[in-house]
Amino acid sequence: MNKPQSHTSLLVANWKLNPTSLKQAKALNKKIISDSAKLRNVAIVLCPPTIYLQPLKDSYRGMKIQYGAQNIYSATHGAHTGELSPTQLTDLKINYVILGHSERRAPLKNGGAAETNEIVSHRIRVALENSLAPIVCIGEEVRSREGEHLHFIEEQLVQTLRHVPVTKVSEVILAYEPLWAIGGKNTGRVITAHDLYEMMLFIRKVLTKQYGKSVATNTKILYGGSVKPENVLVLATEGNMDGFLVGGASLDPQSFIEIASTLNSITK
Ligand code: PGA
Repeated sequence: MNKPQSHTSLLVANWKLNPTSLKQAKALNKKIISDSAKLRNVAIVLCPPTIYLQPLKDSYRGMKIQYGAQNIYSATHGAHTGELSPTQLTDLKINYVILGHSERRAPLKNGGAAETNEIVSHRIRVALENSLAPIVCIGEEVRSREGEHLHFIEEQLVQTLRHVPVTKVSEVILAYEPLWAIGGKNTGRVITAHDLYEMMLFIRKVLTKQYGKSVATNTKILYGGSVKPENVLVLATEGNMDGFLVGGASLDPQSFIEIASTLNSITK
């Protein structure tokens, strides 16, 4: 199924646990805001560490950049030490949240529990109930010639959306992030536009089977995994993407703005 070209590409920056000071975060924020001011066809969402959300947002009021958190808890308040509530974000007028990133789904190195499809699914439901747009990551760890990764993606997608009301599914922004392509410097692997296009078709096929054609067509799908200025053009055009979730390259303002400018120039 061919997706009609949307009017605006969505470009999400996942800063992860970076940078290490508010001063650096402000400098990065400032540079991205000033250098992207003229880009009309790309919507930028910056997802810094939670502690920087409010100061960054407050330092440039009225700008078109939007902000997102990197996770939330599935309760709005109560005895949940160390968690972040969706209502605390909406109170600060934060509009987005990344959910189910593979670094959250993986068991924590110090023995902490991994986030399961079930946990992520409840968080998506709660995000939507609280007017947060969830950016939901899915992706296989390995690819197999026999196509086992397709079964994995289907199961992960279906289970991750299990607690989302059918009428709300198209408000979920999916981010396909194969684990083997994340942090390119470590893995040295990037996806080909052809493989990405095939995966987009497959994800939309699963959505069609579960929710019907209209949901499948209207759900935004981003790609993430070693997106760089050098590969974004081919991935965006041949992969038929609605946008990108960028990790490493979003910490380098020049690279990030090059990615944004490319998307801006190809989106009508
Ligand atoms: P990367 O990270 O762009 O550094 O591969 C993407 C992500 O983990 O969201």
